[in-house]
Amino acid sequence: MTPAPESAADAQPVTDAPLIYFSSASGYTARFVGKLDTAAGKIPLHTSEPTLLAQRPYVLLLPTYGGTAEQPGAAARGAVPKQVIKFLNNEHNRSLIRGVIGAGNTNFGDTYCLAADIISVKCKVPVLYRFELMGTSEDVAKVNEGLEEFWTHQSQKPA
Ligand SMILES: Cc1cc2nc3c(=O)[nH]c(=O)nc-3n(C[C@H](O)[C@H](O)[C@H](O)COP(=O)(O)O)c2cc1C
Repeated sequence: MTPAPESAADAQPVTDAPLIYFSSASGYTARFVGKLDTAAGKIPLHTSEPTLLAQRPYVLLLPTYGGTAEQPGAAARGAVPKQVIKFLNNEHNRSLIRGVIGAGNTNFGDTYCLAADIISVKCKVPVLYRFELMGTSEDVAKVNEGLEEFWTHQSQKPA
């Protein structure tokens, strides 16, 4: 029997955007990204969906979802959203990451933007910026300028 063709819902989404981000249902990170000048690709909200496939080098922007202060180990383990772990478990996606930007909330103290630090270490890329919640207009300006400078610098690197 011939297998049924993949439905559109099962097809893997692809992006050629230089910024890839995750945002949960609360949508703070998505609101920040919406204010940037750059095109951006979104990692799907549900891990049951096929993950996004990057098509060019990109900067990853993600919030931290830690545990509680009483469970510091749990905070470190859960900090990177599982949707982002699924995205980075794809070797092709991992090979194209060039930098990371963290979103978080300073009320979480030591785990502020921890997910960005974890990805920086694991993927050997720099943390380019950190901001709180949906960011301020100053954060938007700094990230716009910073990303432009970053990609200019990257394009001048020897292959
Ligand atoms: C359950 C929970 C745990 C969180 N843990 C942390 C944390 O450990 N460190 C941090 O910087 N922010 C933490 N935050 C704040 C989120 O990273 C922040 O609200 C972010 O803007 C959420 O982005 P989103 O709405 O796009 O998902 C946490 C938020 C929630 C709801």
